[in-house]
Amino acid sequence: MQPLVNRDNHTYLYRQVADIIRQMQINGTLKAGERIPSLRQLATTLNISVPTVKQAYEELERIGMLESRPKSGYFLRVNPPGNAVPRKPKLATKALPVSRQQLIEQAYNAIHVPGIIPLGICNPVAALPSNKALARCMRRVMSMAGEQAIGYGPFAGFEPLKRQLALRYLDMDMKVNPDQIVITNGAQEALTLALKLVASPGDIIAVESPCYFGILELIESLGMLAYEIPVCPQEGISVDDVIQALDRHPIKACVLSSSITNPMGALNSEESKRQLVALLEARRVYLVEDDVYGDLYFGEKRGLPAQRYATQGWVLTCSSFSKTAAPSHRVGWLLAPGLANQAASLKRALSCSSSLLNQWSLSEFIGSGEYDRYLRQLRQVLFTNKERMLACIARHFVSGTRVSNPAGGAVLWLELPKKLDGNMLFQQALPLGVSLMPGTLFAPSDKYRHCIRLSYGLPWSSQVEDAVAAIGQLSKCQHS
Ligand SMILES: Cc1ncc(COP(=O)(O)O)c(C=O)c1O
Repeated sequence: MQPLVNRDNHTYLYRQVADIIRQMQINGTLKAGERIPSLRQLATTLNISVPTVKQAYEELERIGMLESRPKSGYFLRVNPPGNAVPRKPKLATKALPVSRQQLIEQAYNAIHVPGIIPLGICNPVAALPSNKALARCMRRVMSMAGEQAIGYGPFAGFEPLKRQLALRYLDMDMKVNPDQIVITNGAQEALTLALKLVASPGDIIAVESPCYFGILELIESLGMLAYEIPVCPQEGISVDDVIQALDRHPIKACVLSSSITNPMGALNSEESKRQLVALLEARRVYLVEDDVYGDLYFGEKRGLPAQRYATQGWVLTCSSFSKTAAPSHRVGWLLAPGLANQAASLKRALSCSSSLLNQWSLSEFIGSGEYDRYLRQLRQVLFTNKERMLACIARHFVSGTRVSNPAGGAVLWLELPKKLDGNMLFQQALPLGVSLMPGTLFAPSDKYRHCIRLSYGLPWSSQVEDAVAAIGQLSKCQHS
């Protein structure tokens, strides 16, 4: 049985066992409703104790994934009712101006209310704070940096960090020259540079539907128009939809997720990315890809950036360490092989350079090997949280609720019965000490008013369960 438990791994043995069962569920080895290996069988196969396997099974039972039946053993639960996935939306008929800034501001303010349970913000690292390991790296950097600590860094970024990024891309079978990378203030600045480089006010930008609201806010601030391309919960973006969109509208650029979309958590396959890049290059349309969730996958391996399939410089890759190490560091990057010099000049004009100390610390974090160790643990914690939140939603939400089953990342997308109002749920949840993201934020049109996004990127606790239950109760009250 693969993968076997690893005693040198920092993760508890029982969690490794639980992960093995989850992986067997994901890759279809175990089917819903089937009996899973007995405690003794698995303990013998993995050469570990029966109580360790029991602890793993009990944990999986607690989150609703397994069911124990007296004298029969443990069974993989059939998806509980209420967990049907959201429906794929329709292709838009026209491009729209965006007007979401006010609601975004309200939603952001809610996240910072003291004592709030922040189900609204997607901050995966909060689920397993990286601060201790990162703090060690920061202290090392402070002792090495001397007077450089308070100086300006190079405007296009700290060379050792850019080299490390290039090496990480090499692991993804991509030959990247560090000069093609510009370090930015988070992925948001990378997206800003990319859009300013390839489009102008009034241009139509194709976006995912539903789409991360930061991209919509950016399009709004740049005076561009957004055209919605539907995201299928299981298959991500369809190349046929993009063809139809390009045939009907003068689209200047597409802003799409590389692998894992936000908020749907859908996974774009390698084949669809390959076809998409070929299509866009043939039509001379830029692809700005957003890869911030690429490392937070739940499957067996990381999805590759679409850049991997580019041959003519029409793909610009945006990413950051905000979802995988520290959003406060504001360190991201733009990989733009065809436009590297222009990107570097624009970065200089917009914000001169990014924090040298933060780049240096992250470079230490990666170089020490701690970053990759941390990522492995983070993915595991996020997966468990996702299962727990799905189970909670199935228990507490109004019937007819549809929920995404993300392939990675830290958020769930909920499609509630049509007559419910996500904006109202947002307002009603605040006095209960809970923030959520109303669906309206995730498209320029009003089609997601009955949807909400919830984050499981936080340390799991009974308070979090109560918060999900409270929103569920509100959904039932609105419905009745
Ligand atoms: C899909 C997506 N892209 C970009 C960003 C912005 O990332 P950063 O904090 O690095 O600017 C976020 C943050 O939530 C996001 O979810």
